[in-house]
Amino acid sequence: MIRHFLNTNDLSRGEIDQLLQQAGAFKQSRLGTQMAGRTIALVFFNPSMRTRSSFEIGAWQLGGHAVVLQPGKDAWGIEFNPGQVMDGDPEEHVSEVARVLSRYCDLIAVRAFPKFVDWQIDREDRVLRAFAEYATVPVINLETITHPCQELAHAMMLKEQLGELRGKKYVLTWTYHPKPLNTAVANSALLIATRMGLDVTLLCPNADYLLDPRYMQLGADNAAESGGSLQVSHDIDTAYRGADVVYAKSWGALPYFGAWEGERAVREASRHFMVDERKMALTNNAIFSHCLPLRRNVKASDAVMDSERCKAIDEAENRLHVQKAVMSWLLEPQTATRS
Ligand code: CP
Repeated sequence: MIRHFLNTNDLSRGEIDQLLQQAGAFKQSRLGTQMAGRTIALVFFNPSMRTRSSFEIGAWQLGGHAVVLQPGKDAWGIEFNPGQVMDGDPEEHVSEVARVLSRYCDLIAVRAFPKFVDWQIDREDRVLRAFAEYATVPVINLETITHPCQELAHAMMLKEQLGELRGKKYVLTWTYHPKPLNTAVANSALLIATRMGLDVTLLCPNADYLLDPRYMQLGADNAAESGGSLQVSHDIDTAYRGADVVYAKSWGALPYFGAWEGERAVREASRHFMVDERKMALTNNAIFSHCLPLRRNVKASDAVMDSERCKAIDEAENRLHVQKAVMSWLLEPQTATRS
């Protein structure tokens, strides 16, 4: 069976710890030969700054090569429905794309955000799953409905800053954004924070902003296993009080997928969720982070972003190191055993 990197919950805690350890080694010594003569296809259906640059640079630093493809822009549009009569825009089917790329490349990585029309369809993660089904090489999730590479970079930053994470208070706060955004990073933050044994509070305007039950349940299961906890709050001051970590993200309320006008009133009335100095003053001198990109003075104030407690740049740097660890791991012979 091919080993993929689709979600961190597919990995054991031992595997996650080993990836973080390897990422730490790459942070100390950037160049390697783990990808010598190897290639990775980076398939982007959506824009990127950090993911694209860190994967391209990371592959090069390990002696490999990355090719970037943007279907519908510089590559043919792709059909995903099985049995489709392909008389629309897409020129080829994922079954050919994934198998051809597998003949050229040693790894395939895919970014495919939800379509934001019907969450019941988006939650199936069809694009990523189709690549994993048809590819004959490992597939990496570059952000679909979760963002596991961001999770590892976030966990690495948290460990660097705080050391032992068990028992620390972690607030995942919804923030305002003019448009409803993907829940992927919020899902992922919930997964990795609960996996690491943190006491997690999900802060959001009301119950419509709860994450998909699949991730709420996985978060609860992770917390039960790791000795952490998961609770929900709609009260800003209570949630921030005593926090050791504040992680911010905006996302669209799932009940309004495809009917966003219905969400607008709550969204516009919730601009005060922006992370600012007053809220951070309630914390236990918390560190703040965000996956980036971030709209300043909308999601977080200039004062928070420019403070020493903001670790978003460190987290972004760690993307490079953890992804090199992931690529190296996936290219290892599969007979290697891990605890
Ligand atoms: N955080 C993140 O994935 O950044 P990009 O969207 O720029 O890749």
